[in-house]
Amino acid sequence: MKPLPSGDVPALPHIGSGKVREIYEVDSDRLLFVATDRISAYDVILGQLIPDKGRVLTGVSLHFFDLLDTPNHLLTTDLSDIPGLSGPELAELRGRAMVVRRATVIPVECVVRGYLYGSSWREYQDGGGPTTEHLPPGLKLADRLPEPIFTPATKAQTGHDENITEARTREMLGDGLYEELRKRSIDIYLRASEYAATRGVILADTKFEFGFAGDELLLIDEVLTPDSSRYWPADEWVPGQEIPSFDKQYVRDWLDSTDWDRSPPPPDLPAEIVEGTRSRYVEAYDRITGRSFEDYVAATR
Ligand SMILES: Nc1ncnc2c1ncn2[C@@H]1O[C@H](COP(=O)(O)OP(=O)(O)OP(=O)(O)O)[C@@H](O)[C@H]1O
Ligand SMILES: [Mg+2]
Repeated sequence: MKPLPSGDVPALPHIGSGKVREIYEVDSDRLLFVATDRISAYDVILGQLIPDKGRVLTGVSLHFFDLLDTPNHLLTTDLSDIPGLSGPELAELRGRAMVVRRATVIPVECVVRGYLYGSSWREYQDGGGPTTEHLPPGLKLADRLPEPIFTPATKAQTGHDENITEARTREMLGDGLYEELRKRSIDIYLRASEYAATRGVILADTKFEFGFAGDELLLIDEVLTPDSSRYWPADEWVPGQEIPSFDKQYVRDWLDSTDWDRSPPPPDLPAEIVEGTRSRYVEAYDRITGRSFEDYVAATR
């Protein structure tokens, strides 16, 4: 299927672009939330699109909104009552768009980690940082933590998100909201990890966003996708080693094999890397949801 370059929906007011998503206004309470086929790595948007990636992200999010049954922003995937969408637009949007409740985004990325990896491992090795405040000494790379930890990061407007301490987060949010976000985030992580285990997958860490619609606190954004989460095949987890994941590792590995310095412009992805990346996203959909991506796409037609 044709990759979606810009998520362009002329019928609706465009109110925002993220690295991956385009957001349109349906009315004062509702947004059209569209996952494009863009891919970012090291916080830089790459020049090539990954066909179907947006559908994978939306399909996985829908799977978890359904499974988790926690207050969230999803209203519907039925686009038929949105005025002004043409046939070709609808065909492009199906499977990648959801109508969501418009929320005031809480400017903190709610990260939960069950294993020591990524930026947290780097902090741990460097003598400690915001994410390692509550960790015992003597842990190895990819070790399972004694219990999942809540390690928020700031939503940076530009550049890289930054891990922040518990004290700083409490200052930003107030104790009440801090406690509520931690409780909800860890609860969702635990339930999602239990589910992932039934699929032979470890949910090493993940990131949630929350927002307020009126005074209701909602889980928003994408949920438990390969872009927002680190998933490992359970049978490939060996503490002390790097673990291959279902996320962008494949693309990152290719980028690391070039002499790119991680500032724009990024190098062009060769066609076989685009195709390899696409098939990994589709595989991730099948593996995580236990359903077939082809069936998902067929059901959206
Ligand atoms: N229900 C909602 N109401 C309003 N904004 C939302 C809602 N759900 C998600 N968002 C916002 O929509 C954007 C999604 O875009 P995308 O995922 O492409 O952004 P990103 O690359 O993660 O980074 P950034 O947030 O820095 O733009 C995010 O900014 C997110 O906070
Ligand atoms: Mg995002």
